Amino acid sequence: MSKYIVRGGLPLAGKIKVHGAKNSILPVLAASLLNKTGEQIRLEKVPALYDVRAMISILSGLGAQVDRDGEDLLLRTANVDCYHVPDALMREMRSSIFLMGPLLGRLGRARLCYPGGCAIGIRPINLHIEGLRALGAVIEEKDGYIEARGQLRGGEVDLAYPSVGATENLILAAATAQGETIIRNAACEPEIVDLQKFLNILGANIKGAGSPVIKIKGVPGLHGGSFRVFPDRIVAGTYLLAAAITGGSVTVEEVIPEHLQALLRLLRQAGVSVMVAGSSVTVSGGRLKAISRVETKPYPGFPTDLQPPLVACLTLASGSSTMIEHVFKGRFHHVAELRKMGARISVHGHRAVISGVPLLKGAVVRATDLRAGAALVLAALAARGESQILGIKHIERGYDRLPEALRSLGARIFRVDGVEKEAIS
Ligand code: UD1
Repeated sequence: MSKYIVRGGLPLAGKIKVHGAKNSILPVLAASLLNKTGEQIRLEKVPALYDVRAMISILSGLGAQVDRDGEDLLLRTANVDCYHVPDALMREMRSSIFLMGPLLGRLGRARLCYPGGCAIGIRPINLHIEGLRALGAVIEEKDGYIEARGQLRGGEVDLAYPSVGATENLILAAATAQGETIIRNAACEPEIVDLQKFLNILGANIKGAGSPVIKIKGVPGLHGGSFRVFPDRIVAGTYLLAAAITGGSVTVEEVIPEHLQALLRLLRQAGVSVMVAGSSVTVSGGRLKAISRVETKPYPGFPTDLQPPLVACLTLASGSSTMIEHVFKGRFHHVAELRKMGARISVHGHRAVISGVPLLKGAVVRATDLRAGAALVLAALAARGESQILGIKHIERGYDRLPEALRSLGARIFRVDGVEKEAIS
């Protein structure tokens, strides 16, 4: 089995660029289904992530032609005529639920089994389904399948919770529906803004992304175009936290610092020096201080995806920190693994109390989900001795060549190849 071997204890130093955002590219790929013309869509600099490959396989299975041109992806979707997403691929990742909106928009029909994805607690899709029903879809759930059909028309949807995925699914469904759709209490994450940008380039008429009210005037169809998704704010945050936990100094370049504000505030509270200059952010760590209370929240709050990596950092902070996970209640799988490295963390429901220790020690640990895996990598970079990180398929869902990236900053981290590498290539 493939794994990462990490020899910890070195402060990271240097400059690094960040690849395109996984959580932008996935809905953007799903959106390509709304282009019925023979025109090509070019997506620039698409990272080679496991989830991206899985989404490409799904699109190909539905009839799309997807080619690589260097780092770019070329998509032709004129021949998409299949509305049934293959079960095995659907279970590969949760983001495949985005396909329901565009398949309904394009073919008036979609058949999917329940989506897979990270094991970070119950991830219902009721908001997706209720929203699509408000746009005229008839949806039945039986025998583990979701069957949706109907000619979509504009409607008003008031989301009970600002779900990122439901907001994206509804935007995708409404883009080519007849009439106007208003989504209230929409998610405000930057990835929604990126999706709006892409769809408008393809001829959609969408306004308001980034705010809680999004208005979509349906257009008859979309066309081709070129787009590059923005830099991945979670990957950027992971590199900055890697600097903090190792007491090093790292500059992430070509990022959008505004997307990182919540993290940067917390890093300052933890006694880390943070400098922002244009599109670069530099973090220089020292002895970390505990942060009394951190809560994950929808954007612009502190993102749940950076919770596990920040918890890893707080294990080495002097004093006691409390992390409250509001977004995904079950998201503490990294805690048991961090304990194997000497961390002192207790979990009470959706609250973790982290009592800082002076050092972590290397151990054999397993990534159970994507960001839990990132947390283990960070802990291993700071730990004394050697660590082995198993379950790296999860990490490679969202980080493109993480060992190479971290080695460019002076880390000693190596991928030992095995069966998993063949599975994703
Ligand atoms: C997206 C991101 C993920 C991030 C999350 C929150 C992608 C591919 N993934 O996931 O990295 O951690 O946003 O920022 O973009 N919920 C319901 N019913 C629903 C949908 C969601 O109750 O129909 C709940 C979820 O269980 C969870 C919360 O809403 O507790 C947030 O989920 P959501 O915002 O939908 O996250 P995802 O789109 O799955």
